[in-house]
Amino acid sequence: MADYDYDVLVIGAGPGGYVAAIRAAQLGLKTACAESRETLGGTCLNVGCIPSKAMLHASEYFDAAANGTMSKMGVEVTPKLNLDAMHAQRKDAVEGLTKGVAFLFKKNKVDWKNGHASFVDAHTVKVGDETVTAKNIVIATGSSVTPLPGVEVDNSKHIVVDSTGALELPAVPKKMVVIGGGVIGLELGSVWRRLGAEVTCVEFLDQILPGMDGDIRKEANKIFKKQGIEFKLSTKVTGCTVKGKKATLTLEPAAGGDAETLEADCVLVSIGRRPNTDKLGLDAIGLETNQRGQIETDHDFRTKVDGVWAIGDVIPGPMLAHKAEDEGIAVAENIAGQTGIVNHDVIPSVVYTWPEIAGVGLTEEQAKEKGEIKVGKFPMMANSRAKTNHEPDGFVKIISDAKTDRVLGTWIIAVPAGTMIAEAALAMEFGATSEDIAYTCHAHPTHSEAIKEAAMAVTGKPIHI
Ligand code: FAD
Ligand code: NAI
Repeated sequence: MADYDYDVLVIGAGPGGYVAAIRAAQLGLKTACAESRETLGGTCLNVGCIPSKAMLHASEYFDAAANGTMSKMGVEVTPKLNLDAMHAQRKDAVEGLTKGVAFLFKKNKVDWKNGHASFVDAHTVKVGDETVTAKNIVIATGSSVTPLPGVEVDNSKHIVVDSTGALELPAVPKKMVVIGGGVIGLELGSVWRRLGAEVTCVEFLDQILPGMDGDIRKEANKIFKKQGIEFKLSTKVTGCTVKGKKATLTLEPAAGGDAETLEADCVLVSIGRRPNTDKLGLDAIGLETNQRGQIETDHDFRTKVDGVWAIGDVIPGPMLAHKAEDEGIAVAENIAGQTGIVNHDVIPSVVYTWPEIAGVGLTEEQAKEKGEIKVGKFPMMANSRAKTNHEPDGFVKIISDAKTDRVLGTWIIAVPAGTMIAEAALAMEFGATSEDIAYTCHAHPTHSEAIKEAAMAVTGKPIHI
């Protein structure tokens, strides 16, 4: 240790980096974390998970009042939108949580080095004007928006924006076009749809939400259409011009064909994110990225360079905060000589729309490729709590191995699907069968009973349908 300033230097204070730094310090390692932003918490806390959920939650209240859901339950209100107040509560949520990370750094004696970090050699990093040495360096630099050639984002004008700009629009656009029917497009498209915008989603593929189970993708599409979002599937955007306060997009069928134009007051570019490795000085340590710009690691999160580790959005795998956090804990434990493990087969993913959409494990399509399967499905319409709450949309689907009955995947569309999916993840982590779930007592009346019934449906014996 005498040779280095720190045992561990983490680059990036997102959910991967700040969690790695705190765990390393908890394990008795002298730890610093370099972060170029003025606040801690990374994409997730500053411009991602947290502010988007603040806007989603607030807009759900507005929508429930505006779309008749509340009056159906005997509560008559005429909502009035105060967008400034909505933004203020978003900023409050972000401020509270980013300050919370700063407090945790202090509490755990993690030194925050504020500045852009770049490698000098495998144990030396320049952070702003300071040079810091460490025995172990963890790259947790996260990801940024993938640009779309021909569609230039300028968040300050509020016309062509990325997710950060779409969180901060000062007024509800009359017509919004979302490029990309993935998680960001659907979540932020939903926010502005609920607040009154006409929303059209242009998706390159023939269905939204790539990577999710086929049934889920179709059902989600139906639900969003019902909510007023228009879809142009199998369509690509080839250009965008901005004149005054309006954008005009040029669209073409994905397979080629006649172009058409689409006007919008606001265009959200949400076609994915790419790893942050620019100006990190990877050349200085001889570390290359793969074709997708990611840093490859082994199972323990070691890169090819001794003493250099990597986690989170900058390495392969789903770009999710909880995946980054779990990798943060595991990498710190591995650096400390313990056995830190992340089971990448059981990482839940959730889209926080209304209803929520969640999945863990294999899709039906993936499971079929691996062998014979059984599938049990249960509609939320037949779940007493969902029905009572006027939340009939969605279903639970459980996929299990035909021979062993072990659960291979669980997919849910339901208002609290993001909370429900934790049960499925736990069951899969413990190697449960669908029968194990079916014979587990679930409280009544809860949405979670639909998971039990879907498990019962795997063997053809649900009760309520
Ligand atoms: P990041 O959070 O990106 O943090 C990396 C940090 O490193 C950044 O703060 C950056 O400033 C810093 N940095 C980069 N390079 C350097 C450098 N050279 N020197 C110093 N600092 C540097 N995921 C979910 O699981 N649930 C959600 O609900 C969710 N919602 C999202 C909503 C939006 C709008 C967006 C954009 C993303 C969302 N995500 C969500 C994804 C989630 O934010 C990321 O998966 C997560 O933040 C990745 O964590 P990370 O630690 O790997 O990187
Ligand atoms: P995404 O990968 O989820 O979706 C991008 C979509 O854009 C895809 O459907 C893709 O087919 C489409 N697309 C790509 N190029 C296109 C083009 N030229 N024209 C039209 N469509 C095109 O990416 P997104 O939504 O930008 O999100 C980035 C990441 O952030 C995701 O990987 C996700 O993991 C993470 N995130 C997670 C959230 C959550 O967990 N709830 C919320 C928001 C983001």
